Amino acid sequence: MSRIVVICGSPRKKGNTEELVRMFAKGAAEHNDVEIIYVRDKKINFCIGCDHCKRKEGVCIHHDDMLSIYEKLKNADVLILASPVYFYGISSQLKTVIDRLHNPIRDTFHLKKLGLILVGADTLSDMFDSIITQYELSLRYFSLEDAGRLLVRGAAKRGDVFNTTGPQEAFQFGKSLESST
Ligand SMILES: Cc1cc2nc3c(=O)[nH]c(=O)nc-3n(C[C@H](O)[C@H](O)[C@H](O)COP(=O)(O)O)c2cc1C
Repeated sequence: MSRIVVICGSPRKKGNTEELVRMFAKGAAEHNDVEIIYVRDKKINFCIGCDHCKRKEGVCIHHDDMLSIYEKLKNADVLILASPVYFYGISSQLKTVIDRLHNPIRDTFHLKKLGLILVGADTLSDMFDSIITQYELSLRYFSLEDAGRLLVRGAAKRGDVFNTTGPQEAFQFGKSLESST
């Protein structure tokens, strides 16, 4: 039984990212404790690089919803980042959460694995490349194991993802984490 936290980075309610995340959680839930965090429901300020957190033992100048995310990450084994592709990058909502991990509070996390779920409208072979590069560098920097990646192309409008194999693959991705940590 692993504790899995999924951060859903789409601002669009009931969008394609959300559908993939739900299917992932369905697949993973049988043998794991899974929690989905929807960043669209959270009030999270930008990291301003003031380094207050470094001088004050992890205390951030912002008192916002990121504090509860820190608490959840303290107890997680696996973190799954999910995002729509926005101009070949992740959504700014998800990036805002990631930037707040500049805080040394991250040293209290016991994360072992990181995974990725992405969806975009294009069908280009290289449409995920810049995100994958950032992801792989992050795995190395934080010494995390790759839990897997799901990359879904050709989903533009809400619900388009159901015309792809994405939901089924998301379920299998979740299931694959059954006894892996
Ligand atoms: C601001 C913005 C930028 C986008 N940029 C890209 C892009 O670079 N490549 C792509 O394939 N799709 C792009 N899209 C399309 C979304 O990735 C696509 O509609 C996706 O399914 C949205 O996921 P959601 O339904 O979870 O919000 C963009 C959409 C928006 C709103």
